[in-house]
Amino acid sequence: MALFKRNKPELTDISQIKLPEHVGIIMDGNGRWAKKRALPRSAGHRAGAQTFRKIARYCSDIGIKHLTVYAFSTENWRRPDGEVNALMGLFKEYLEEALRDFRDDSIVLKFIGDRTAFSPELLALMNENEEESKDRPGMVLNLAMNYGGRAELATAVKSIAHDVSDGKLSPDDISEQTISDYLYTKGQPDPDLIIRPSGEHRTSNFLLWQSAYSEYVIMDVLWPDFTEEHLNKALLEYANRNRRFGGV
Ligand code: FPP
Repeated sequence: MALFKRNKPELTDISQIKLPEHVGIIMDGNGRWAKKRALPRSAGHRAGAQTFRKIARYCSDIGIKHLTVYAFSTENWRRPDGEVNALMGLFKEYLEEALRDFRDDSIVLKFIGDRTAFSPELLALMNENEEESKDRPGMVLNLAMNYGGRAELATAVKSIAHDVSDGKLSPDDISEQTISDYLYTKGQPDPDLIIRPSGEHRTSNFLLWQSAYSEYVIMDVLWPDFTEEHLNKALLEYANRNRRFGGV
């Protein structure tokens, strides 16, 4: 009797291409994924969280140095209570278990956004994960939670104003670098590539300042269906772009 072995399809070869140092991902399409299956939206988020874990590991394996994922925006609080609660439950679950698994991958965890809005329990988990992972040598994984680019800039401007009025900073010394240094991503390179699955052509308030020269790759796949192969295709497309940063 013939044996049929179903192999995983070969991944696009990315071994020779120039990888971006920092990748951003807008994890979009969980709701539509669930709707297509007549499931509650929370089921889409659960599937999306599994994709998040798989893709974060893959990015670390192939040598991406910084990965920023958009997990919850400042606007997402407007969703029905049931959906927000389901997301908070998932964050707790993942911060307790999955993120600890990242220890084996040497991943450093950082949370970007206004964390004061989260429950004390979630807040403690965020602080614990950051503290525990801070000296690891691997990829920096920024989880954008209660994050909005405009809110981030407003917070930065407020801190700059305080430092000016306290005499710690002179207005004449404020440069683009000063602003970068007051953002949550201080000390990290700007994202080279931002991937948006689910086909939407919007920035949705993600890394507004940092993405000034990012290459966007929009993909027609819902986030829970996003695979390592989709990532490879985005990396290949990025590698073929001609980045000029305003020059010629
Ligand atoms: C956008 O899809 C997705 C979100 C608002 C939530 C993203 C969160 C996850 C993928 C879970 C991540 C979990 C961890 C632990 C980081 P949408 O709901 O707006 O989809 P739609 O546009 O199809 O409605």
